[in-house]
Amino acid sequence: MTDSLDELRPDSRAIHADRSANETDAVVPPIWLTSTFWAETDEEFLEKASTPGCDRFYTRAGNPNQTQASKVVAALEGAEAAVVAGSGMGAISSTILAFAGSGDHIVAQRNLYAGTTSFLSGLAVKLGIETTFVDQRDPLEFEAAMRPTTRLVVLETPSNPLLRVTDLRAVAAVARARGAVSIIDNTVATPINQRPIEFGVDIVMHSATKYMGGHSDVIAGAVAGGREHIDRIAHVLTQTGAILGPFESWLLLRGLRSLSVRMERHNRNAMAVAGFLAGYPSISAVHYPGLESHPQHALAKSQMSAFSGLVTADFAGGHDAASRFVSSVRLARRAPSLGGVESLAIHPAAMWARSLSADQMAAMDITPGLVRLSIGLEDERDLLDDFDRALQQVKSVSV
Ligand SMILES: Cc1ncc(COP(=O)(O)O)c(C=O)c1O
Repeated sequence: MTDSLDELRPDSRAIHADRSANETDAVVPPIWLTSTFWAETDEEFLEKASTPGCDRFYTRAGNPNQTQASKVVAALEGAEAAVVAGSGMGAISSTILAFAGSGDHIVAQRNLYAGTTSFLSGLAVKLGIETTFVDQRDPLEFEAAMRPTTRLVVLETPSNPLLRVTDLRAVAAVARARGAVSIIDNTVATPINQRPIEFGVDIVMHSATKYMGGHSDVIAGAVAGGREHIDRIAHVLTQTGAILGPFESWLLLRGLRSLSVRMERHNRNAMAVAGFLAGYPSISAVHYPGLESHPQHALAKSQMSAFSGLVTADFAGGHDAASRFVSSVRLARRAPSLGGVESLAIHPAAMWARSLSADQMAAMDITPGLVRLSIGLEDERDLLDDFDRALQQVKSVSV
């Protein structure tokens, strides 16, 4: 079997795309728990040392387990190449640093994962990189913010936690026309629901800690795109050391095998929960792009095949009502992260107070009454019963 798996569908790609990177006869690739690899001769040593992406030289520069996971990510995203990283932030920061330096400009969405906003408005500024933040819902804002020095356009859709949608075709075209590289955080959607490269986006990044890993047992990142772009990012990862270890790469590969079937259940459960919460008087808004009432539902439908597992609700009773709800829910425990088999709940306003200023949160419309639910793989009926019971508790206090 060759590397060319274009004809396979995503479920099959996730299971077979790494075959050529497993030279052993073990059906499940062994874990290459080694920091270094030996060479028989000087020539062989030098050849390995000078081959970019060689995964048999020194594990910070490459390892077979990293190669295997990367091949599956690339196949799922429909990309030429991919590389894995030590975390989602390792993937995002290394991608930004691969394309922007002192004196360069970035156009980014205002609503992004808080860690990305914090990187762009903190460390990147220290390095001399300036960012203009725009409303992701309006492609014209991206266009207007572009400068001759703009190197990158940074996207995330649906964005965490308000699940706003960016028009991928329109914004990728703006970036391309102005010679900038477009990069997207596709963590929330996953390649099962949305493949941004098909809409002209250059590079796709993931916190693979989330749906890709899928079991809340690994911190990992991944980036997919054209070969030249990925080589450049891999070089930064080798320099910063933000790489993924062999065992974590192996765990990620195991998670990727079942991504597609897990996403089917996440998508279905979240749609049911969003519809259920939308009918509740104590909730003033439910943010879920799969709901017909979502203001960008038509756009979401035009670029996503399903809407993933995050649902965010705004409680009319503000922080107290939201807090009571999170404390009353039994199945969704209060923990950061998303995309695992278990449901989780958090208050974005409380969690992000660590990395964002009050002004930044206000600009992102993160209100005190917001609760973000990561809907897991539990039985839908148990989830709805649990949320119903917790909502009764909120109601009993507010009346
Ligand atoms: C959308 C998104 N991107 C990136 C990250 C960062 O990922 P990691 O925690 O793996 O560094 C997160 C983490 O919550 C996230 O939700």
